[in-house]
This record gives sequence, C-alpha cells and structure tokens, in this order.
Amino acid sequence: MNQHKNIVIASGNPGKIKEIQAILKDYPIIPQSEFGVSEAEETGTTFVENAIIKARHAAEHANMAAIADDSGLVVDALQGEPGVISARYAGTRATDEENLRKVLRNLEGVPEDQRTARFICVIVLMRRQHDPMPIIAQGVWEGRILEQSFGENGFGYDPIFWVPEYQCASAELEPQVKNTLSHRGKALKMLTELFNHRAAQ
Ligand code: IMP
Repeated sequence: MNQHKNIVIASGNPGKIKEIQAILKDYPIIPQSEFGVSEAEETGTTFVENAIIKARHAAEHANMAAIADDSGLVVDALQGEPGVISARYAGTRATDEENLRKVLRNLEGVPEDQRTARFICVIVLMRRQHDPMPIIAQGVWEGRILEQSFGENGFGYDPIFWVPEYQCASAELEPQVKNTLSHRGKALKMLTELFNHRAAQ
C-alpha cells in the first residue's frame, strides 16, 4: 500500500478507530460517514463474510482502501448462537440487556461444563473494492456463560462472560486488562503482524 494514503473504516465507533489508527500509523483512518457511505447490509452467515461485505461496500463507495470488523459471541450449547446476530439477538432494536437475557433464558438448566462460549473478532483490510487478497485477521477469546450478570464495565455480553484467566466476569475487568485478553485485542495484534509483513514485501 502507498504511504500517506487514507483508509476508510466501516465504523463510526471512536474507540475502534483510535485502536486501528494506532496500528496503521501512516494511513489516516476516516469513518465512512465522512464520505456519505451508508451502512452495508450484513447478509453473511459468518463473521468473515460480514467483515468482507462491510469493507468492500466502504471501498466501493469511498473509492479507496477500506477496513471493517465484525464480532460477536458464539455459544456451543446454542449451536453457535447468537453468532453474527449478536447485536440484534433479541430483535433489531434490542438493548444489550435484552440480548444477554435471551442468552441466559435459552441456557436455563444447562450445566456449567456445557456453557462453553467464545467471543470472535474478524478484521478485514482491502486495498480496493476488488482486492483479491485482503488481509484477514482474527481473534478468539474462550470462556463460559454465567447464570447471572456481574460487573459494570464493558458492553454487550460482558456481564455474563466468565473469564477463566481472571476468575471473574468480563464486565468486572479493567478495560486495559480486557484489551490484553480479548478477541479484539488478539485480532488487532494479528492485523499488526500481517500488515507489517505485507508492508515489508
Ligand atoms: P460489533 O460487530 O463489534 O458491532 O459487535 C457485535 C455485537 O457482539 C455487539 O453488539 C455485542 O453484543 C457483541 N460483542 C462484540 N464484542 C464484544 C465484547 O467485547 N464484549 C461483549 N459483547 C461483545
């Protein structure tokens, strides 16, 4: 990729933009809304498909390199649900609280050793709309679903996600600690490695 070129990001989340900007230092990361790009419809059935759909949509409409991520929770006893619909598990306008309550309800009576789950994050970087070789980074964070909520930090399913490394819920972790363990932290680390490798080629 040429130096000092802009990259459009298919997100308006300032936290995500800051984290990715810290990795892709020489490439100004600009939210797609600044180019008038609407949100893509997430029609994929996998995280990687949705991340590609979002990045390709942004690359097409802003006509430049694009980056997008997709993430969510995968629960074994629910055959992978909520998966790619993690943000809208209990309905299109559902709150985080409603979504996590639905997971707890669906897991009622499931014993502890069968409540295994993981957070997944996929990040895709494309040089152009028809880039046949996008960079694809992925991070996985293994844990278990608790029987009730604990903690005030984080967002989404953090209050019901048991973190074995710290013996507490993800919402009880300090944000800096969560970043070192999380699916997103791991995907960002992999993106750094893949990006630096590509840049050196
Ligand atoms: P997004 O693709 O990053 O917008 O995430 C989709 C959904 O997955 C969020 O709305 C959350 O419900 C869930 N999710 C993703 N990452 C996390 C996390 O770190 N903690 C809790 N929930 C998460």
